[in-house]
Formats: sequence, structure tokens, C-alpha cells
Amino acid sequence: MFRVIASQMIVPNVHLLTLAAPAVAREAKPGQFVILRAEEEGERIPLSLSDWDADGGWITVVFLNIGATTARLASLTAGIDIPTVVGPLGNATEIENYGTVVCVCGCYGIGSIYTIARALKQKGNRIITIMEARSSYLFYWEDRLAAFSDKIIHITRDGTKGHRGHLARLPEIFRGLEEPVDRVLVNGCTFCMKRTADETRPMGIKTMASLNPIMIDGTGMCGVCRVTVGSVTRFACVHGPDFDAHQVDWEELLQRRKTYMPEEVVPLRTSRCEERHFKSQEKSHE
Ligand SMILES: Cc1cc2nc3c(=O)[nH]c(=O)nc-3n(C[C@H](O)[C@H](O)[C@H](O)COP(=O)(O)OP(=O)(O)OC[C@H]3O[C@@H](n4cnc5c(N)ncnc54)[C@H](O)[C@@H]3O)c2cc1C
Ligand code: FES
Repeated sequence: MFRVIASQMIVPNVHLLTLAAPAVAREAKPGQFVILRAEEEGERIPLSLSDWDADGGWITVVFLNIGATTARLASLTAGIDIPTVVGPLGNATEIENYGTVVCVCGCYGIGSIYTIARALKQKGNRIITIMEARSSYLFYWEDRLAAFSDKIIHITRDGTKGHRGHLARLPEIFRGLEEPVDRVLVNGCTFCMKRTADETRPMGIKTMASLNPIMIDGTGMCGVCRVTVGSVTRFACVHGPDFDAHQVDWEELLQRRKTYMPEEVVPLRTSRCEERHFKSQEKSHE
């Protein structure tokens, strides 16, 4: 069993869980992930490691409350045990001294890129962090990222912070930098990663994306996380999750992520109904 040490909604719909998982914390490296289950009968879902402490024996995950399992995880409070935390899984992000690295992040990717930016900075890179969100109230961990970034640039769709618009503004932002960019890393939703790849491809800047296909076992056995990269079939859990974003078949990834959409709506509806049912029962007992 793995105990929840802390649970917090950091901005609307984005949650942070700190879990006691000493064996994972001892081995964790930037860019790796865990597969966890929120309850005994629950499904297994992958979440990136957003932080860890080997001495303290804890790990942190940051996730978007999007469906039945993440809603269940978001409802957990400190002191509750969950049955499964498997990891660390996947390959660590390649950390070299590239020169100037741009870390593009949005949504849960702000959390998952944090340890990567930290490791790249410690390796001697200049780090420019580009954070993207619908509105400024959806940004978090700016102070943490600022500690390892030489510059932070914001893009908001409503213009409440930084550049107004979305990732289509990347070419103009890159042109405005005082230095050439040697590498781009992007973490976040599939659209954010695809769009970043589309914008950096014509600029010829090597771009790595942390792919998020549906996963089950996380060990290369089930084949569910199949992606096509440079016309070659890869399994994101064992060959990735980081891949050359310019080589990824994004349309296939977007399509495959929708495979179980009709089935996913059922447990979400059921869990929301159960939640309402239990709340009304609790009220009637008061
Ligand atoms: C390596 C990796 C790292 C990830 N890291 C994070 C993270 O740090 N934070 C975060 O918020 N999300 C992360 N994701 C995505 C996350 O796993 C899904 O959002 C989550 O599984 C949704 O589960 P759900 O039951 O709440 O939603 P559902 O309603 O079941 O699904 C919502 C969407 O999530 C995707 N999804 C569903 N089940 C899985 C699954 N088993 N594996 C992968 N995707 C699935 C589907 O495309 C679906 O459209 C990561 C995915 C991968 C592969
Ligand atoms: S999750 Fe089963 S092969 Fe990758």
C-alpha cells in the first residue's frame, strides 16, 4: 500500500498528490513516470514524476482531473492508502549540455517538466521556459521553474499574462530571443506537443516530446501504447516516453487516445453519480 502524504488542487482542475513510495523515489530520474491505481478495482494509469525525495521516500505527481480515475485520485486525502504505484518506468530524459534549451509546458506538463528543467540547468544549459495556458490563473509552480530558468515567457489565450494567443506565437517568440535555440523539450497535452512540433519543424530545432498514449502494463507487454515514430512502430512505455517530436505520427496518436472514449464516459458518469449519492446520504445522516 502507498500512503497519500499530501493532496491539493493547485489550480482549477490540476491536482498534486504526494505519495510515500520509497523504492520509486530512490531510483527516479527526470522524465520517468509511474503507473498507479487509485483503488483495488480501479484501472492503471500512467502519470509523470513531477518531483521526489530519495531520503524522504516520497514522490509527487501533478495531474489534470479529466476522467474517472483522475477524479478518484483528486478526491483522495492525506492518510489514505492506494494499492498500486509501479515505477519508475520509461527512459529518463536525455540530459546533456546542449547550450540553450527551451522547455515548453502547459497543463500537467508544467509539473512534469520541472525536474527536467532542473537537471538540464544543473548540467550547464541556459534554460528558457515557455509556459502556456488558457488564462493566467492556470499557471502554477512559476517560482519553482524560475529557480532553474534564465528566462520565463508566458503565453495566454486571453492575454492575461505575457503573449496573447497560443503556441502559433512560438516562431515570433524565438525570433525575439537574444540567442539561438539548440533544443526544445515539450511536456503537456497532445495538442500542445503537436503544435510545438509543427512550429519548430520549419526552424530545424531538435524537439523532444514526452508522449502520452494510453498505457496498461507499462512494460512493453500489452502493445497498447504503440506509436509510430519515423515510420517505425515503437512502444512509448519502453522506448520512450520521449521521442523526436518531428518524427511522431501525431494524427495516429490523437486517434488512438480516443479509442475508449465512449467507455470512459460511463465510469465517469457512474463515479459522479455515486459521489452525489454518498453526499446526499451523508447529509441525511446529519
Ligand atoms: C507516460 C505518460 C505520462 C503521463 N503523465 C501525466 C501526468 O503527469 N499528468 C496527467 O494529468 N496526465 C498524464 N498522462 C495522461 C494520463 O495518464 C491520462 O490523462 C489518464 O490516464 C486519464 O485517466 P482518467 O480515467 O482520469 O480519464 P479517462 O476518461 O479514462 O481518459 C481521458 C483521456 O486520457 C487518456 N487515457 C485514458 N486512460 C489512459 C491510460 N491508461 N494511459 C494513458 N492515457 C489514458 C485517454 O486518451 C482519454 O481520452 C500521462 C500519460 C502517459 C502515457
Ligand atoms: S503499456 Fe503495454 S506495451 Fe506499453
